[in-house]
Amino acid sequence: MTSKTQQPATFKPSGPLSGKISVPGDKSISHRALILSALAVGKSQITGLLEGEDVLATAAALRAMGAKIEKKGDVWTVHGVGVGGLMQPENAIDMGNSGTSTRLLMGLVASHGISTTFIGDASLSKRPMGRVIDPLSQMGADIQARETADHKACLPLSVRGICPAIPLEYRLPVASAQVKSAILLAGLNTPGITRIIEPVLTRDHSETMLKGFGAEISVETDADGCRIISLTGEAELKPQKIKVPGDPSSAAFLVVAGLIIPGSDIIIENVGINPTRAGLFDILQEMGGDISLTKKRTVGGETVADIHVKYSALTGIDVPANIAPSMIDEFPILFVAAAIAEGQTTTTGLSELRVKESDRLSQMAKGLSLLGVTLTEKDDGLIIEGSGGKPLSGGRAKPVIETALDHRIAMSFAVAGLVTKSGLALDDITPVETSFPGFKNLLMTLAS
Ligand code: S3P
Repeated sequence: MTSKTQQPATFKPSGPLSGKISVPGDKSISHRALILSALAVGKSQITGLLEGEDVLATAAALRAMGAKIEKKGDVWTVHGVGVGGLMQPENAIDMGNSGTSTRLLMGLVASHGISTTFIGDASLSKRPMGRVIDPLSQMGADIQARETADHKACLPLSVRGICPAIPLEYRLPVASAQVKSAILLAGLNTPGITRIIEPVLTRDHSETMLKGFGAEISVETDADGCRIISLTGEAELKPQKIKVPGDPSSAAFLVVAGLIIPGSDIIIENVGINPTRAGLFDILQEMGGDISLTKKRTVGGETVADIHVKYSALTGIDVPANIAPSMIDEFPILFVAAAIAEGQTTTTGLSELRVKESDRLSQMAKGLSLLGVTLTEKDDGLIIEGSGGKPLSGGRAKPVIETALDHRIAMSFAVAGLVTKSGLALDDITPVETSFPGFKNLLMTLAS
């Protein structure tokens, strides 16, 4: 199991943020770009790839399975082995903190004639893997996982793939793009049609990129509004040139910082605003946030824009449960915005947040309470009473917030620190490296 030395960090009250910046590449798209490039026949090139630990873990795993991946200047080149061409890795694969790498690569291994053991850090080793084990086992893979005291299947686990696997028709029981993508990746090397029925739309980067690589994939909507995704297996993928847009989930922290620090005015360039990801921006606008999306364009099938944010007095709202999938990673930072807004914000339908890198409902409730925020923690959401623009402050001069190996908890409280009376400390900022290298410097650049 991997572990790192903790690194505390302090965040103090900040003056207005200003400037034009860009954020690192989209994490979800970066994982998929590497994986599909590794499965294409020949040389793909990727620019804008997120060089965070999670994506580098995917790259290392693909190298261990035979793909040649190298970086020169800004360009990542991947020499793909072709669908069906993955090789047996020599050792267990360390996925660090990355649930996306683990679940997507489990899908990949499931339909290849290789066996792989996945290990990870303390956070990843607590996350439920049953949701991918079930469909992949139905396709014929043999998966052995550690069983926890509360009967969850977790890492370490090993996948013995099968070739040919059995094509599956599967209705997603949880709204999860990781599960959907794991099955699609398994379907690539499976004869016949793999079909996924998706009752609740989740991020659709896998479908878009598979089309871009030349896979035979169709997406229809049935009479009940479910998406039916059909992929024809034993696919031949053609190498591509991919430009990864900035990550809206990373931009989210800067957007909220710009909205809640009086006098701020910032522009974040080149951010992905795929509607399956952009729910936070809609909610913040409903709360009164001055956010405009300019220079909209399409890059590699993904919509991209510049985001202009100005300080705004926010008002609390009831966040509808059905918007959750399009902002599933953004609730921690939304809770910070809600803590500063005028009035009450309610959220519901968020039980999935309890099985992310940490239990995000409980970690956010704990940390915000330390900052003096009045809130109620429900099973599936938080109800937050906003301060009406007043700086946050607990009883203590500088509370220490536990980041629990969770990058988004760390960055949310870093932003909260900028609107405290006298600052706060994070017990450990290292988790930020998984998705947003350079986060603290970028924030400080905007503040100076
Ligand atoms: C992701 C899907 C989401 C999200 C995660 C990235 C992906 O997870 O929370 O950060 O790239 O497919 P779930 O599939 O568990 O909802």
